[in-house]
Amino acid sequence: ETPAAVITIDGPTASGKGTVAHRVAKALGWAVLDSGALYRLTALAAIKQGVAADDEPGVARVAETLDVRFDGPHVYLSGVDVGHDIRREEVGNFASRVAAFPGVRRALLERQRAFRLPPGLVADGRDMGTVVFPDASLKVFLVADVVARAERRRKQLIEKGISANLDDLLRDMRERDARDTERATAPLAPAADAHVLDSSNLTIAETVQAILDFWQQAGKR
Ligand code: CDP
Ligand code: CDP
Repeated sequence: ETPAAVITIDGPTASGKGTVAHRVAKALGWAVLDSGALYRLTALAAIKQGVAADDEPGVARVAETLDVRFDGPHVYLSGVDVGHDIRREEVGNFASRVAAFPGVRRALLERQRAFRLPPGLVADGRDMGTVVFPDASLKVFLVADVVARAERRRKQLIEKGISANLDDLLRDMRERDARDTERATAPLAPAADAHVLDSSNLTIAETVQAILDFWQQAGKR
């Protein structure tokens, strides 16, 4: 039995992965996996349980026993809707730190693979094409220069009524990029067979179209 089709979209923060993954999934009628949400849920659960970010076995245990449910735009942690809470900056920073722990990544691996169901899945993250779905039908590595990404993030924050300084955002983004690319386990990197797509000068619609074109060129419909 052949497993369901998967398109993986990996890349650094604010390259547009989440937005583009949702639109590609909608165009194809597939499901989406926001793998970053699982790292954020692990972080939030650890914070709630008073487990420190440097307690590797403690955070791994939190990941192993995570009680989560995804329902459209809603995310539940032990029955509580935390869709809003997991987006907090503090939670993102904690997530980015504990994502380096092999025990945390191992605990989340099968949970991510369980999202692969017919007719197909669009999965976004850092290691979707390299570790979680190495046999994916199509792999995209979405990049954009760091200034473009910081400007996108600032616009996103302003729309939420949060003011943000571009220099601070740039500094945070460079730190997060370094942590993601330099860690020993599942570092952020394109798979050997990934299409590297630079969206610095592309609109969201153009980026989505480029991915749907790759999919068609690969002979899939
Ligand atoms: O998931 P990721 O952190 O990679 O990025 P995102 O949250 O999907 O996108 C970050 C922001 O960039 C969003 O506000 C998108 O609307 C915007 N964006 C853009 O302006 N142009 C693109 N080509 C892609 C995303
Ligand atoms: O908002 P941001 O793009 O920084 O992060 P996210 O995609 O929501 O994921 C939160 C954190 O989890 C990231 O900073 C990554 O370090 C980590 N992550 C990971 O290691 N592997 C994944 N497949 C997805 C996220």
